[in-house]
Amino acid sequence: MLRSAIRSTGHYLPERVVENSWFEERLETSDEWIRGRTGIERRHFAAEGQTTSDLATRAARDALDRAGLGVDNIDAIIVATSTPDLTFPSVATMVQSGLGMTRGFAFDVQAVCAGFIFALANADGMIRSGQAGRVLVIGAETFSRIMDWTDRGTCVLFGDGAGAVVLEAIEGDGTNADRGILATDLNSDGKYRDLLYVDGGVGTTGTAGQLRMQGNLVFRHAVEKLAKTAHTALDRAGLTGNDVDWLVPHQANERIISATAQKMGLPMEKVVLTVADHGNTSAASIPLALAVADDQGRFKRGDLVVTEGIGGGLSWGSVVLRW
Ligand code: ACO
Repeated sequence: MLRSAIRSTGHYLPERVVENSWFEERLETSDEWIRGRTGIERRHFAAEGQTTSDLATRAARDALDRAGLGVDNIDAIIVATSTPDLTFPSVATMVQSGLGMTRGFAFDVQAVCAGFIFALANADGMIRSGQAGRVLVIGAETFSRIMDWTDRGTCVLFGDGAGAVVLEAIEGDGTNADRGILATDLNSDGKYRDLLYVDGGVGTTGTAGQLRMQGNLVFRHAVEKLAKTAHTALDRAGLTGNDVDWLVPHQANERIISATAQKMGLPMEKVVLTVADHGNTSAASIPLALAVADDQGRFKRGDLVVTEGIGGGLSWGSVVLRW
């Protein structure tokens, strides 16, 4: 049975690191508040002129290098982002060109902080259907470009970065019998659009706009919906919370992550946490967390990994896979 599995991970973080103290100098906030309410200590911001496609291309190269693959071995590129360089063409085609790839196909997915989950599920479906044998799945964002720097409730939360995985077809038999993506669960409910949105766009202001969020309401939805989607996907795979070796959640807020882990009955030692160093990098946060944990050698062949995320829309979902 054809299945898809992660062959390699890669990532890129912009050089500029901004500590919480940077905000203390500009806003009525404190390192103590930011750490205590979110777990965030620092984040990376892209340099002037550095775009989402630049970050994505670097993460993609890293993933290809680690897999020992060239662009000729890739059939498709999917980029999850809500901060594209331009309205069009897609960031994915810019990455394609940046990598020097002239065949295959490339497109973007936009599901905000759940974007990487949606992109991974798409890539999995394409591999299972035979449309592609190997897909570069990337999450990349420059949320620093859509911040209202006077709004302390949002601007302290986000960071820039990119993460990537090479997802490839495997025959799900023999030693691979249990490997790869085992189940996915995707959800959206557009009635929650006002909880988290960007107040600009082609059809409204004609500008990129700035992020607006009712953080405490999003928080409540996040805790409830994330545990539920993870359980739904596990159930589809015939598994339970007891089978999980690693939870790799969207990194928005350490309190949301620990509440979700608790609801799933998972100790924090089984949770990959990068929010302290990256902040919320939206669609990039899950592939960044996967890449950091992979670099640290934390995943062993056969480990059961659950990833989940929620973002604007609201849109949320999870992917269950065996490493
Ligand atoms: N520094 C100091 N005080 C602050 C700050 C700040 N940076 N930001 C807000 N406050 C104040 C508020 O003004 C409020 O003050 P008041 O009580 O005098 O009115 C108080 O802190 C409490 O505000 P809340 O918003 O209720 O604080 P909460 O504990 O909910 O934490 C936070 C806010 C961190 C935003 C949290 O709600 C959260 O993480 N929400 C979820 C974010 C998320 O997961 N987003 C989803 C993905 S993002 C995406 O899709 C793009």
